[in-house]
Amino acid sequence: MKEKLINLKNEFIEKVNQINTLLEIENLNKEFLWKSGKLQEILKWLKDLSVDEKKVIWPEANSLRDFIWIELENKAKQIEEQRFANIEKEEKIDVTADFETKGLWHKHPISITSNLLEEIFISMWFKVEDGPQVENERLNFDMLNIPDNHPARDVWDTFWISDDINKDLQSWEKVLLRTHTSPVQIREMLKWNLPIKIIVPGRVFRYEQEDARHTCNFYQLEWLVVWEKVTFWDLKGTLETAMKKLLWEKTTLRFRPSIFPFTEPSAEIDVSCQICSGTWEKNGKSCSMCSGSWWVELLGAWMVHPKVLSGAWIDPEIYSGFAFGMWIDRIAAQRFGVNSSRMFYQGRLKLNEQF
Ligand code: DAH
Repeated sequence: MKEKLINLKNEFIEKVNQINTLLEIENLNKEFLWKSGKLQEILKWLKDLSVDEKKVIWPEANSLRDFIWIELENKAKQIEEQRFANIEKEEKIDVTADFETKGLWHKHPISITSNLLEEIFISMWFKVEDGPQVENERLNFDMLNIPDNHPARDVWDTFWISDDINKDLQSWEKVLLRTHTSPVQIREMLKWNLPIKIIVPGRVFRYEQEDARHTCNFYQLEWLVVWEKVTFWDLKGTLETAMKKLLWEKTTLRFRPSIFPFTEPSAEIDVSCQICSGTWEKNGKSCSMCSGSWWVELLGAWMVHPKVLSGAWIDPEIYSGFAFGMWIDRIAAQRFGVNSSRMFYQGRLKLNEQF
């Protein structure tokens, strides 16, 4: 039996010296080490040996198995190193090469709109901030005055990160795909760097039934001002100026009372629909963008709830905050006359190239 092991070792050494590819390594592994491999074949006879013989053969078989294993690993390393060395020798990257890039790409209408919005607000001295797309429950909900049992949570149909990750976390630490850009308000307030004057363009996610105005992921622009004595007129003035610049001079805004847990009072603001220009119909059908209502909901807004301010250590007796969250996709649809925001996510270059 000992002899068989020695022969097997020699056979292996001979074979391993001849191979040059990872596939061959895999085959040798199978041939020698797998359940039906040659080593196991020999060990089958172990049961017929005496205890004393077993005591000698067993460690030898074990060390042969380790030997084969280590040899295969070393050989694999060697083959990979050789492969990379060849690539380095044979492939050259010419960083000065000039490619024809015309027609290969086009800025997406949502990026165009988002960049325009940034330009407009930067010209009004707003700072552009950013936040993570995977957010924790505390910032996305709790600190925005939407506790666990609050009915408003149902409005934000949430994509939770898998249970594997969330199961051991405290409720408020659980992670999710952010349902809005509003958690960045809290991130900014917690920096306690007043006055705050920021916008936050970004991608958000909701488990939505898709239609002309709703998609499972879309883009929002958050707007936040926190300082002494800011008023509703600051918000209204800024917003009207921005919308007139972005859409057209005749654009009108409609303010409706609404409810958001993180603002008090709250409003929803609509813009006059430019897809059907108030005629309520497009190509003989009721306009799908405004559902024939002439108004398209563009944003939620108004005064930051005192609880939200005090939760972020800002004294609501001294400071007030104004905020809004705007749907960039809908503005893009309005601006470019696209009658369904779903089209923006279909990856059609033909659509993008028109703008
Ligand atoms: N976050 C809200 C949503 O996604 C929109 C919103 C409403 C944002 C009011 C605000 C606000 O900043 O003040 O539905």
